[in-house]
Amino acid sequence: MAKSAGLLLVNIGQLLTLPSEADGPRRGASLSELGIIEDAAVLCLGGKIISVGTTKDALRDPWLKKNRKKVTEIDCGGRVVLPGFVDSHTHPVFMHPRLMDFEKRIAGAGYEEIAEAGGGIRSSIEGVRKASKAVLAEKVLSALHDLARHGTTTVEAKSGYGLSPESELKSLEAIRAAAKRWPGTVVPTFLGAHVVPPEFRGRSQSYVDIVCKEMLPAVAKAKLARFVDVFCDRGAFTEKETATIFGAATAHGFGIRAHLGQLSTPTAGFVESLLQTCQPASLDHMDYLNKGDLHALAASTTVATLVPGANYFLGLSCYPDARRLLESGVAVALATDYNPGTSPTISMPMAMSLACTHMRMSPAEAIAAATINGAWALGLADHKGSIEPGKDADLAVFDVRDYREIPYWFGVNRCATAIIGGVVVG
Ligand code: NIG
Ligand code: FE
Repeated sequence: MAKSAGLLLVNIGQLLTLPSEADGPRRGASLSELGIIEDAAVLCLGGKIISVGTTKDALRDPWLKKNRKKVTEIDCGGRVVLPGFVDSHTHPVFMHPRLMDFEKRIAGAGYEEIAEAGGGIRSSIEGVRKASKAVLAEKVLSALHDLARHGTTTVEAKSGYGLSPESELKSLEAIRAAAKRWPGTVVPTFLGAHVVPPEFRGRSQSYVDIVCKEMLPAVAKAKLARFVDVFCDRGAFTEKETATIFGAATAHGFGIRAHLGQLSTPTAGFVESLLQTCQPASLDHMDYLNKGDLHALAASTTVATLVPGANYFLGLSCYPDARRLLESGVAVALATDYNPGTSPTISMPMAMSLACTHMRMSPAEAIAAATINGAWALGLADHKGSIEPGKDADLAVFDVRDYREIPYWFGVNRCATAIIGGVVVG
């Protein structure tokens, strides 16, 4: 990645620093503390943040006085600067939009009904199986560029539409190839257990065996993923199958994350057992939960990642109960869930807008959930998610005067500039 010699941002109207206070994801009242500095400046060198303060203090700095000519300066003209978004849940390896599903849903069919009739995740398999790695990598890269244009600088990317040893490896290789050509950070996740592919219909155990005995060892050997995810829900994988896959994944040293509680409530005690046996970095969706799960989650460092784009796009009137999670002390993150079936958006500001309007998260909570808590959900909080000396110089400049405008202006892109590793990318 190109590292800038030096970059100085000055005249920032509001700089949202989100300083890390405690050693863990933010929860409760701390999600609202954005660490705002007005009329601020940030100095970046060698891809890292060096100093953060007021413009006045920055310009008085002796080192900067001497070296100002060597540093690229951006006058932010009163705009808002915040950490680049950390989108901790995306499915970018697919070929085609699912327009038939879209129309069927508009005509009244439900997500599960469409999936049972041959649409849904299974209808994205053929495109991926037939595509070359290079073509898939282009698709992923194009999404990564779009993400950066909307202020996202770190992205988790899942496989999950190949669903055979060959096509899952190809999907992860495509993620790796795209990541090499994008300056931001990509965290790859193996989602071989997305659904049971059609050729294993009625034989899910045989597919789980292949996931555990063939795919996981191959992914581990080629170091193609950091996390393993399972879609654990009605119509996908059972809790028992999920536990089996996570057991194998843990043995191979993968981190764990899961799609859980999107369509149905997990069995009482299942979340707690997952927390104990494999300390997932994140449990995602969480539309349906037991009361006991809230306490177990609040006592853990596992993040609950909410993806309201999926509820919006499926036309649901119900959204995850973010207030209940927040008030119980659960660490909440927000992500796009970018995928062709339930959430074809790469926009974190859109996810944040939905979080505010449909889940009653405050703009401040939404920002913390989309930055520092996203970083925790990926195990990257040491380097990402806040604007502090020593952290990676990944920033987003928004063409607004007040941070609350970021989720307020929905459906337009107000990201003026994304900066990755101290370099302006768009
Ligand atoms: O997060 N729930 C499982 N996976 C995706 C949907 C994928 C698809 O429909 O293609 C989700 O919503
Ligand atoms: Fe998803």
